Amino acid sequence: MAFMFLREAVQAYRQRDPAARSAAEVLLCYPGLHALLWHRLAHGLWSRGFRLPGRFTSHLGRFLTGIEIHPGARIGRRLIIDHGMGVVIGETAEIGDDVYLYHQVTLGGTSSERGKRHPTVGNNVIVGAGAKILGGITIGDNARVGANAVVVQPVAAGETVVGIPARPVERDKLKSDPPKAVVRQPSFVAYGTPCDNAPDPVVCAIETLRAELFALEARVAAMQRSPAAE
Ligand SMILES: CC(C)(COP(=O)(O)OP(=O)(O)OC[C@H]1O[C@@H](n2cnc3c(N)ncnc32)[C@H](O)[C@@H]1OP(=O)(O)O)[C@@H](O)C(=O)NCCC(=O)NCCS
Repeated sequence: MAFMFLREAVQAYRQRDPAARSAAEVLLCYPGLHALLWHRLAHGLWSRGFRLPGRFTSHLGRFLTGIEIHPGARIGRRLIIDHGMGVVIGETAEIGDDVYLYHQVTLGGTSSERGKRHPTVGNNVIVGAGAKILGGITIGDNARVGANAVVVQPVAAGETVVGIPARPVERDKLKSDPPKAVVRQPSFVAYGTPCDNAPDPVVCAIETLRAELFALEARVAAMQRSPAAE
């Protein structure tokens, strides 16, 4: 069982980390793998009711690897914790299979209540360096969390989120949806619009706003000339 665990963990590192050159290197030099071994021991003790020994084992693992995994956390297969230093995984966190975490990731809580208060991370999720995922939220399968993001809302499967607070990357949406101003006024053609055939949707949106501004200025000027007419 332990041998199986080690074999597939080493394989996962070698497949997914281009810096991993040999099985011996992974076994000797990857703190993420060492932290998982400590966690298996700590979790085994914790789930059999040996709470203090479990906690102390986890503390030893943290001391030696710089990675803090609470012994209560549930971790799936082939987790990779790349670099590792500063990673914190809370007591009620759950992690699926084939997840990839970089250094300084926190799967943390936002409340001092005792129940489920840490995130559930789906399969095949990537969490960038320094990202914080906070609260009992779910990160869907195949999602990606950008470096340094702070995630406080659930993330849908396959979604990429970045920033503080983390939001989905909007670029694809902008490319596929026409700007709202164009939808509202499809026949408005002042100042270089319509945008239906414009190659760049951002330029299109700016041109539409300029056109609306021009129309409003003209209307205000007309009102100033003859207030009764408007
Ligand atoms: C989030 C991430 C997965 C997106 O990768 P991607 O799909 O290739 O996306 P892109 O690089 O094309 O960026 C898409 C948009 O998100 C922005 N973006 C990307 N990563 C971001 C981040 N971490 N924070 C804020 N914005 C980010 C880009 O500027 C771009 O914005 P734009 O559309 O306005 O130009 C990736 O940028 C990331 O952060 N990976 C983590 C890597 C890491 O932690 N490495 C540590 C190695 S030690």
